[in-house]
Amino acid sequence: MSGPLILGIETSCDETGVAVLEGLEVRSSVLGTQTDEHARFGGVVPEVAARAHVEAIRPLVHLALARAGIHSRDLDAIAVTEGPGLVGSLSVGYSFGKALAWSLDVAFLGVDHMEGHLFAPRLDHDRFEPPAIVLLASGGHSQIVHMRGWGDYETMGSTIDDAAGEAFDKLARFMGLGYPGGPAIDAASEGGDPERMSFPRALRDRPYDFSFSGLKTSVITQLEKAKAVGTVPPLPDVAASIQEAIVDVLVEKTFNAVEATGAEIVAGGGGVLANRRLRERLAEEADRRGVLLAVPSKSLCTDNGAMIAAAALHHLETGMATPWNRDVDPGLRLAP
Ligand code: KG4
Ligand code: ZN
Repeated sequence: MSGPLILGIETSCDETGVAVLEGLEVRSSVLGTQTDEHARFGGVVPEVAARAHVEAIRPLVHLALARAGIHSRDLDAIAVTEGPGLVGSLSVGYSFGKALAWSLDVAFLGVDHMEGHLFAPRLDHDRFEPPAIVLLASGGHSQIVHMRGWGDYETMGSTIDDAAGEAFDKLARFMGLGYPGGPAIDAASEGGDPERMSFPRALRDRPYDFSFSGLKTSVITQLEKAKAVGTVPPLPDVAASIQEAIVDVLVEKTFNAVEATGAEIVAGGGGVLANRRLRERLAEEADRRGVLLAVPSKSLCTDNGAMIAAAALHHLETGMATPWNRDVDPGLRLAP
């Protein structure tokens, strides 16, 4: 495979992701995670995140270039996340990438983080192409996107309160499972009975929208009541029941969109798509309906530099360039 050599940089939140793509081939992809630095606060602290990106970015860019076996002067373009995200974190990657592109005299491309998630399946699945329905679920976002074409997106539904990952994180914190909560609940659910506790599945009357705040209240109320009378079920059962309630609505609403649009490809992105039960249920449902499931590997679901470079490849091919005077946009929105 060949194509332009693109350096992708992702620093929208608490992961420093850097990757080198040659066309659609991932030559290298490295990640600097700050989880430990935020864990003691129970969530991401913006100031801590920005400082950690400052320390990580230069060594990670060197590492990504070295692992790809190339020199910076071999690069054809540099792609960086422009938004949405934390302004301090975004600015570190953006300024670094822009300065490097300027000094190397190569193209500079600002990329929407969510568009990056939409392009990630392309790196793992040859047959992934629009039209497709993509479930994007992370710590900050839960939305169902109808990808009508490359660059042509419609947000069919989104969360009206907490994002799915945020629900995992808040509930894990309540249960004392630490941060980030998604992987903790995923691990704790091993061998648990998902029907042991019954939690609400909200917004059944709105086919593509999500709401997770009622679930949170219900879990807290039920667990507090059970604690008072000494009948709290074993942790695996509690975790599996919570996970099932979140996964149920994500799967149901994704396939509502598949049905409504007649899409034959369904994909996903964002950290929550790393969830084992969600992946299993999406695969079962896709199989049952005879549609192609194109959820990328877990490391391409969570934030990474390769997805940013993959979206940038499309922009490069269609002649889109980012003006040098452009800056980060923490409130960037993918599609109305
Ligand atoms: O996409 P991502 O890496 O960063 C954001 O843009 O937010 O997503 C992080 C979110 C966190 O809320 C984390 O708890 C959740 O994804 N997550 C998971 C799993 N792994 C990460 N949620 C459920 N199950 C998992 N295995
Ligand atoms: Zn993300």
